[in-house]
Amino acid sequence: MVQADLVIMGGQVVTAAHKEYPVRGRAMQHLEVLDRGWVACAGDKIIAVGSPDEVRPRVELTSKTQIIDAEGKTVTPGLIDPHTHLIFGGSREDEFYLRAQGADYMEIMAAGGGILSSVRATRAASLTELVASGRQRLCWMLRQGVTTVECKSGYGLDLETELKQLEAVRILQREQPVELVPTFLGAHAWPPEYQEDHQGYLEFLLDTVLPAVREQGVAEYVDVFTEKGVFSVEQSRRIFARARELGFRLRVHADEMHNLGGAELAAELGMASADHLLMISDQGIQALAASEVIPILLPGTAFSLRKPYAPARKMLEAGLPLALATDFNPGSCPTASLHLVMSLACLYMAMTPEEVFNAVTINAAHSLQRSDRLGSLEPGKQADVVIFAADDFRKIPYFIGVNLVETVVKAGQIVVSN
Ligand code: NIG
Ligand code: FE
Repeated sequence: MVQADLVIMGGQVVTAAHKEYPVRGRAMQHLEVLDRGWVACAGDKIIAVGSPDEVRPRVELTSKTQIIDAEGKTVTPGLIDPHTHLIFGGSREDEFYLRAQGADYMEIMAAGGGILSSVRATRAASLTELVASGRQRLCWMLRQGVTTVECKSGYGLDLETELKQLEAVRILQREQPVELVPTFLGAHAWPPEYQEDHQGYLEFLLDTVLPAVREQGVAEYVDVFTEKGVFSVEQSRRIFARARELGFRLRVHADEMHNLGGAELAAELGMASADHLLMISDQGIQALAASEVIPILLPGTAFSLRKPYAPARKMLEAGLPLALATDFNPGSCPTASLHLVMSLACLYMAMTPEEVFNAVTINAAHSLQRSDRLGSLEPGKQADVVIFAADDFRKIPYFIGVNLVETVVKAGQIVVSN
C-alpha cells in the first residue's frame, strides 16, 4: 500500500480507453468514462485510478491526505497544447481589424506586416518583457486546465532574438508550473535583412543558427513554415536535414494556405508532427496514414482566418491519430483558448467529444514524445489532473467560451483552485 497525498473522489473520470499510443482513427471514438471514480496521487505521480472499491485497498489514506470531493464534476488529464507561438513582442490588433474588413493574411505579410511586424516588436522587446508577457499568457492557459505547452521561437529571425525567445521559455520553465516544450522556428519568414538574399539566410540558418541553438540545448524540435512565398519544400528539406543531423526532432507547418506537399514531406522524414493541414490532399492523407507522424489540427486558425477547416473526418477515416492545438500567435490565431479549439473541432470538423479529448490529451502528448509520462490518468504517470464543474465531459466543448475549470493539479500540486 502506498500513502496517498491527494485523492480526487467521486467525479466522472475520463481518460484514454486504449493503452496503445497514439490513439488512431476509429479508436479515437472511445474514452474510458468512469462514473464516481477515484484518482489517487502520491508525490508527483498518479498511484491508482478506478472505482472506490478498486482504489481503496491499494492506497493508504492518512490525516495528511488531501481529499477533493469531485462529485458532480468531470476529472480529466491535464490538457496539452502542442503548437503555440507563445513568446512574442507587441500585438497585431490593427491587422486583426483589417482582416475583419477583408484584408488577406498573406498579402499583409508580403507587404512587410504580419509575422515581420511581430519580428520588429520581438527584436525590440527585452528578455524581461518577453518573460512577463509569456507568464501572463501561460496563466490564461493554466486556468483553462492546460498543463503542457509547446512554444516556438520564430519572431527573431536573427541569432540573438531567436535565442532570447528560447531563453524566455527556459526562464518560464523554472518559475511556473506549466511544462514547456521549446521548438526552434527560425524558418518562419524571410528576415528583413535577407529579403533579396534567401540563399544567404538559408546558409546562415544551416551554418550558424542551428548549430548554436543545438549547442545551447534550448530547443527540442525544429519547425519550418513550408508555404508558398515562404520556405519551399526543397528549402525546408535542407533545413530539416541539417536539423536532424544535429540531433533535433522535427515538426512542420504544412499545407496551411496552399498545398505544397508538406504532409508528404513530414511522412518522408518521419517527423513528430505535421501541423495545420487545411489544404492537405488525398495523397497527403495516404502518406501520413503510412507513417508515424501525428497530424495536429488548428481549427482556431481556420476560424480566425476564415479559411476552410482541415478535413478531419477524412483523416480519421484513413486511420490517422489526430491531435488539436491552439496555434496561439499574434497574427493568424490570437487565441490561447484550447477550450474554444475543442468547440470548433466539434462544430466545424465534426469531431466527437471523445475524439476531441483524445486529441488534446494522449495524442497531443504523443506528438511531443511524452505519452509515456503525460496525457492520461494511469498509475505511474505524472499527476496532471483537471476538475471541471460539469457532470459530464461532453458539456465541456458544448458550453462554448465558458471556462468550467475548478481545479488544476500539476505534478501532484494544486496550482489552480477556483
Ligand atoms: O501558425 N503560419 C505561420 N505561422 C503562424 C502565424 C504566425 C503569425 O501570424 O504571427 C501560424 O499560423
Ligand atoms: Fe503556427
